[in-house]
Amino acid sequence: LEELISDGVDGRYVLVRSDLNVPLDNGRVADDGRIRASIPTIGKLVEHGAKVIIMAHLGRPKGTPDEKYSLQPAADRLDELAPFAVEFAADVVGDSAHELAASLASGSVLVLQNIRFDPRETSKNDDDRLALARELAGLTGDNGAYVDDAFGAVHRRHASVYDIAEVLPAYQGDLVHTEVEVLKRLTENPEQPYVVVLGGSKVSDKLAVIENLMDRADYLLVGGGMVFTFLAAQGYKVGASLLEADQIENVKGYLSRAKEVGCEFVLPTDIVVADKFAADADVDVVPADAMEDSRFGASGIGLDIGPDSAAAFAEKIGSGKTIFWNGPMGVFEFDAFADGTRTIAQALKDSSGFSVVGGGDSAAAVRKLGFSDSDFGHISTGGGASLEYLEGKKLPGLTVLDQ
Ligand code: 3PG
Repeated sequence: LEELISDGVDGRYVLVRSDLNVPLDNGRVADDGRIRASIPTIGKLVEHGAKVIIMAHLGRPKGTPDEKYSLQPAADRLDELAPFAVEFAADVVGDSAHELAASLASGSVLVLQNIRFDPRETSKNDDDRLALARELAGLTGDNGAYVDDAFGAVHRRHASVYDIAEVLPAYQGDLVHTEVEVLKRLTENPEQPYVVVLGGSKVSDKLAVIENLMDRADYLLVGGGMVFTFLAAQGYKVGASLLEADQIENVKGYLSRAKEVGCEFVLPTDIVVADKFAADADVDVVPADAMEDSRFGASGIGLDIGPDSAAAFAEKIGSGKTIFWNGPMGVFEFDAFADGTRTIAQALKDSSGFSVVGGGDSAAAVRKLGFSDSDFGHISTGGGASLEYLEGKKLPGLTVLDQ
């Protein structure tokens, strides 16, 4: 970004890809973390007199305009939060985008409608995506530039992330830069002890991350819905809890390989079991190896790690110099099952190590539980993107900038 700014952006069109993919609740932004995180890069360009056009997506519409996925609420929130004014185009590369772009003043910002309303954005066909990229570049006159600041989308080979960088001079935004530096700290010689905390519902989403981080981490703490597959792999009965039976063999393999590579898996020793998946469920706390001894027998559902486990996890986190956490420990959306996640968040906050909260759900969870971004070393804006980076994958939105 510094390089682009020093080349001069005054009066020049700059297309910025931001990640404004935020959760909505009745048409209002429910968590504005990503919007806040996008402001510094846009703000720098505005300060230096650029005409900024923002491309972003919201949700996964089917390549056609759909009011439910309008980017307008996110653009409005950006307008409220940012020190600059924000205009909104009703389409992606149609009349509205062209008219508003043409009259855009230096130091002003225009947000285009949800880029995924155009089917070419996510097309598998290279020519289609390139055609959209060319039309987007057409909004920028003859001296446009492109800045990728959408860390959360760098794992997508999409027109506004990848192909556009082949059409316009391309630069890395400050957010992408910061996120990559943080992820490097987690993968290239992390300071030890290195504690990784994984949760969330499915172990199948985390296989590659587990494999890649096992070689680096000293402790791998597991909670969330995925833990029941670990407990089942140890031969425990898990009642009606979430279980991926087809992953049990994989998990057994991890548990034995961990010993060889010197990584210790830490599993919960107690579980909060409920009679139903509901906010007002009846609950019981039982040992992890005797879940079906709860009052609900084999129909009990594990919905959070128990207090002893949370305390043990917190102690391990406290010993870490580097801590990475992805995925809630329980169904934090219901108060009765939020304690595990809250204890882990508090332990990261109290830690004197470098603590990173990765990804969409975990970031939303800590904010919902009343923590703020400054409580942690870093809260990543990337869900899938951070995980894919930690899996060791090459991410199209980053490699294209290197090229
Ligand atoms: C995310 O929410 O992880 C990013 O915005 C990417 O969204 P996607 O998974 O729909 O591509």
